[in-house]
Amino acid sequence: METKGKNRKVTGRGIMVALDMKRRIRSLRNSAGLTIDSLADKAAVSEKTLKKIENPKSRQKRFDEDTLIKIANAFDISLDELQGKQDQYKKQGLSISFEFLADRFREIDRMLLPLIRDHRHAGKSLIEHAYIGLLSQLLQERKINLEHIDRSLRDPIERKSFIEGLPKPGLVVEVSEDFSEISYNCSLNEKMIVKSPQLLWDCHCDTPSNKQNNFKCPIHSKKLGEEVGRRFSTGYVLIRYRDTEFYWRRGQELWPPSIDSFYMIDAMEADGLFKKKYNSVLDIGSGTGFLGIMMAYYNPYITDITLSDWLFTPYLYGIANWFLNRKNRNHISFKANTALFTKGLDSLIKPYDIAICNPPYLPLLEGFDEIGLESTVAGTDLLADVISKNKSLANRIYLQFSSLSKPEAQIAQEKAGVKLRPIGKERLVPFRVRILWERSDYLDVLVKERGLIEKKDSRHRFWHKLQTYIIE
Ligand SMILES: C[S@@+](CC[C@H](N)C(=O)[O-])C[C@H]1O[C@@H](n2cnc3c(N)ncnc32)[C@H](O)[C@@H]1O
Repeated sequence: METKGKNRKVTGRGIMVALDMKRRIRSLRNSAGLTIDSLADKAAVSEKTLKKIENPKSRQKRFDEDTLIKIANAFDISLDELQGKQDQYKKQGLSISFEFLADRFREIDRMLLPLIRDHRHAGKSLIEHAYIGLLSQLLQERKINLEHIDRSLRDPIERKSFIEGLPKPGLVVEVSEDFSEISYNCSLNEKMIVKSPQLLWDCHCDTPSNKQNNFKCPIHSKKLGEEVGRRFSTGYVLIRYRDTEFYWRRGQELWPPSIDSFYMIDAMEADGLFKKKYNSVLDIGSGTGFLGIMMAYYNPYITDITLSDWLFTPYLYGIANWFLNRKNRNHISFKANTALFTKGLDSLIKPYDIAICNPPYLPLLEGFDEIGLESTVAGTDLLADVISKNKSLANRIYLQFSSLSKPEAQIAQEKAGVKLRPIGKERLVPFRVRILWERSDYLDVLVKERGLIEKKDSRHRFWHKLQTYIIE
């Protein structure tokens, strides 16, 4: 704290503000279009102090750390960045563009997936080897260096331009906190509201059954339905939930914050996830990063967040979504990781306080190989892996899965000698996996052997149950 008067001193925590730091503050202020006055307002520091901080001739050399943190927050950067400690990370003329990377990463993911699935009978270590080999080859061919991306994002100016360069979403989807309403906004004056939705996209039109045609679709029965549908399925979408927002684009590689993710957050929140003193969180199979980012956003004790997924599209969206939602949480250290299962996480701080996983849940059954390519929903191997690793990953692990993958969870649980304790309610939700509409034979197996519920006289024909658990 600063003290006033002749003996004005700065306490032991005072920080030296050298000439280059003064220049950096001035140039950040100018590029943000702020006057001394308006920056003082925004940062809630006195104008006089700010003038002294910027003035190269000021006699005061050390300034209070809290004041400098407030200034850093006003620029949405960390104190380290304000001090220029990150200058060493300045990248070598490489500007990272979200859209450029999104295209390259989608290409890579589409090559990685078949490899992983082809090797699924070959044993885990062989798949892991093949995955790492192909991954580095595909990155090299496209001249993409993950370390450069990481370094660039530590640079506040680079990061700002990366976030500002995010393509404008064609659709903003606002989900109410209790999931009682979803508003789909094409523009300020064009919005469509769906009340009491059962899914993020609550359409049943393409379900393979004539009976379902008798029901009115909450989306396509509306004037704006077709246009919203076009935007939802082909363009960038921003999904808002509570105070957070998540970028997403429909594709085989990326799961949106969806009914299962919202239910999982509910169950974990009721269990104290946002209130208890947890410092680190690992989100495994992170997709858009929704679960981990929600935790880091709402739990004030979090200082470390790691998002981990096996594909690059989630890696990129996880990064974008973190910086979109980080706000003034500059003290939180963030890591985006690409790893098959939880491999490669060994080198990070481990065990985490919390690990969260909402894995795919469709069993990979003999004769239905192409279903394995649906990376977000197909395969029970991540579920089994997290159960088997249990306490080595985190002190407390939350896992959600569908009733359809109970047999695999049961086997993994017995092997690992752990218990899965249900938390929150079991939820019955529509099962709408469009690629399966062509595979009635697979659906038949799910109905006969996995307890997929068929309701011929309901708007959604198929249903399954979701439950969140803690591994004990
Ligand atoms: C159902 S999505 C959940 C996404 C996100 N956590 C959420 O709740 O919104 C499952 C995620 O697990 C990832 N995944 C599937 N198998 C994996 C594996 N073996 N290793 C790592 N990630 C995997 C998928 O890429 C996908 O992002």
